[in-house]
Amino acid sequence: MSGSNILFILTGSIACYKACDAISRLVQRGHRVRTVATASALRFVGTATLEGLTREQVATDLFAEGHALDHIGLARWADVTLVCPASADRLNRMAAGLGDDLAGALLLAHDWTRPLLLAPAMNPSMWRHPATVASVRTLRSWGARFIESGSGRTACGEEGEGRLAEPADIVAAVEAATGVAPPPG
Ligand SMILES: Cc1cc2nc3c(=O)[nH]c(=O)nc-3n(C[C@H](O)[C@H](O)[C@H](O)COP(=O)(O)O)c2cc1C
Repeated sequence: MSGSNILFILTGSIACYKACDAISRLVQRGHRVRTVATASALRFVGTATLEGLTREQVATDLFAEGHALDHIGLARWADVTLVCPASADRLNRMAAGLGDDLAGALLLAHDWTRPLLLAPAMNPSMWRHPATVASVRTLRSWGARFIESGSGRTACGEEGEGRLAEPADIVAAVEAATGVAPPPG
């Protein structure tokens, strides 16, 4: 397998730890993974972990010296872009077309001929909030594909919808989007 270029954007959720498992699996399966972490994501997972898993520098800052056009370059490099976990805040920002940080600018520069996958993770009330419901509808209408969140006990201790999909399902969805055969089992 030659592997695909996967742009993996992490946003601020406890589920960042599960995203690290998905990143590890994608790398082990021969994909080239480059990560972008929002300021909030960096409160949940460190650059050392992301860099160690991908062997690539983590992009975090829209205005980083020497990386001024990363928001265009990374968007063009990616065969598939994945936001995982996708916070409520991020879904709402994306649907509003905001680009005031690296993740936002990247997503504004997204090439819609290539897949954009969103893996939500949030409290059930956040998932049901009218703003989030409307944003999900808008993002779907633009062509974004959702990796469905699961139901059950969320990290905050409440029952309902909003748990991040399992890492194996995230890998399968990414590979399906890039045309790679799904992992066995
Ligand atoms: C302990 C903790 C856990 C959080 N978990 C989530 C979560 O799972 N989903 C979510 O949408 N927001 C969660 N938040 C809130 C987001 O981190 C916050 O809205 C942040 O602004 C998201 O920013 P970003 O979208 O730029 O990454 C959490 C906040 C804290 C303090």
